[in-house]
Amino acid sequence: MTLAPPPLSLYVHLPWCVRKCPYCDFNSHEGRGALPFEPYVDALLADLDFDLPLVWGRTVHSVFFGGGTPSLFPAAAIDRLLQGASSRLRFAPGCEITLETNPGTAEHGRFEHYRAAGVNRLSFGIQSFDDGCLQRLGRIHDSAEADAAVKLAQDAGFDNINLDLMYALPGQDLAMAEHDLERAFALKPAHVSHYQLTLEPNTVFAARPPQGLPDEDAGWDMQERCQALLRDAGYVQYEVSAYARPGRQCAHNLNYWRYGDYLGIGAGAHGKLTLGHEQSILRRWKLKHPTRYLAAAGREEAIGGDDRIEPARRPFEYMLNVLRLVEGFALADFEARTGLARSTIETPLRRAYASGWLEREGDRVRPTELGRRFTNDVMSLFLDPSDTLLPRGIPAH
Ligand SMILES: C[S@@+](CC[C@H](N)C(=O)[O-])C[C@H]1O[C@@H](n2cnc3c(N)ncnc32)[C@H](O)[C@@H]1O
Ligand code: SF4
Repeated sequence: MTLAPPPLSLYVHLPWCVRKCPYCDFNSHEGRGALPFEPYVDALLADLDFDLPLVWGRTVHSVFFGGGTPSLFPAAAIDRLLQGASSRLRFAPGCEITLETNPGTAEHGRFEHYRAAGVNRLSFGIQSFDDGCLQRLGRIHDSAEADAAVKLAQDAGFDNINLDLMYALPGQDLAMAEHDLERAFALKPAHVSHYQLTLEPNTVFAARPPQGLPDEDAGWDMQERCQALLRDAGYVQYEVSAYARPGRQCAHNLNYWRYGDYLGIGAGAHGKLTLGHEQSILRRWKLKHPTRYLAAAGREEAIGGDDRIEPARRPFEYMLNVLRLVEGFALADFEARTGLARSTIETPLRRAYASGWLEREGDRVRPTELGRRFTNDVMSLFLDPSDTLLPRGIPAH
C-alpha cells in the first residue's frame, strides 16, 4: 500500500488572551502590556519558511487562526501573515480562512478589515448567553456584547459564522441550556459547536471545581435535548460536537477528522504531514511558550518535537479522528492515508460490527447510534497491543 498525501491545511496559533479562563487548557497566556504582534508575525513567517520543504508544491485547502484569542491581533497583522503565507504556498480557490474571535474583543471596523485581509469565516467563543454562567466561567464579555459582536460581523459581510457554546455549566439547568440555543438560533449562524464542559487537568476548575455543576444524568439530558433542538432548527450533526447547515461544515476541522495533513505554525502548534518520498507520517510540534518560541522561530530550536508515526500506531490514530464523524470513513481512504492494507484492521472491525458499534455499507464504515455513545471503547479496539504509551491528544480547533 502507498501513502498518498491527503489535502493540506494550515493552522496558525496566536497564543494571547485578555484573561485566562478557569476551565481552559489551551496554550493561551494572559497578555500583559503591549503584545508583540509584528515580531510574532515575523516569527510565524520564519516558522513557515522552515517547514516549507516538507510540503513543497502542495496546495493549502484551509487556514485556521486559533488560540488564544486571534481577534486580539490587528487586521494589518493578519493581512501581512496571509499575504506572506499565500506567496509561499498555493491557496486553493475558495480556501476557507477562519479566525477565532472572542466577543469581548470586537471593535467597530475591525471585522471589515479582517474580511479585506481574506478571512472568510469567523468562529465566536460565545459559551453561553446567560450572564450568570458567563461570569462563573470567568468570561470577559456579557451576553449583550456577544449578540452585538456577531451582528457587527454580519454587518461587515460575514455569512459563514460559527458559534461555540458549552453546556453542563455551573449553575445551569436544562431550560437554561435550551435557552442558550434559542439565543444562538436567533443570530442565524451557519454552524454551531456544542461542547460539554470538561474539567481539564491543570486548570483552575480542576483544582477547585465550581459549585453547582450538573451531574452526569443532567449533562446527558442536556445533550439529548440540545441535539434535538439543533436538528429541528436545521443544523445537521456531522461530528461529536459540530453541527452545520447543509454545505457549511468546517472544511478545516473536517480535514483533521478525515486524517488529512496540516502544517502547524506558532507557539505550541502541532502539524501532521504525510511525506510521500519517505513513505512516513510526521507529527511535529513547536515550542509552547510564546517568549521561547519568538526567540527560536525559523530555526531547528523552535521544534518542540518530531515523531514519526510507525505503521502499528496508525490504525488507532486514524480511528481516533474518523470515528468522531457521523460519516465514518471509506476503507479506500484508510488505505491511502495510513499506507496499510484494510486486512490489518479486519479483526477489530469484525468485533465492532458484532458489538453493534460500527456498520458497513459497501466501502464505507460508519459508527452506529450505539457506537457513537461508546466512541472511546470503539476506538480502543484499534490500539496497537504493544503500545503501552497513552496516545497524545489530537488538536481539534
Ligand atoms: C480555543 S477556544 C477558542 C475561542 C476563544 N479563545 C474564546 O474562548 O472566545 C475553543 C473553544 O473550545 C471550547 N472549550 C474550551 N475549553 C473547554 C472545556 N474545558 N470544556 C469544553 N469546551 C471547552 C470553548 O467553547 C471555546 O470557545
Ligand atoms: S477559552 Fe478562549 S479566551 Fe478563554 S483562556 Fe482559553 S483560549 Fe483564551
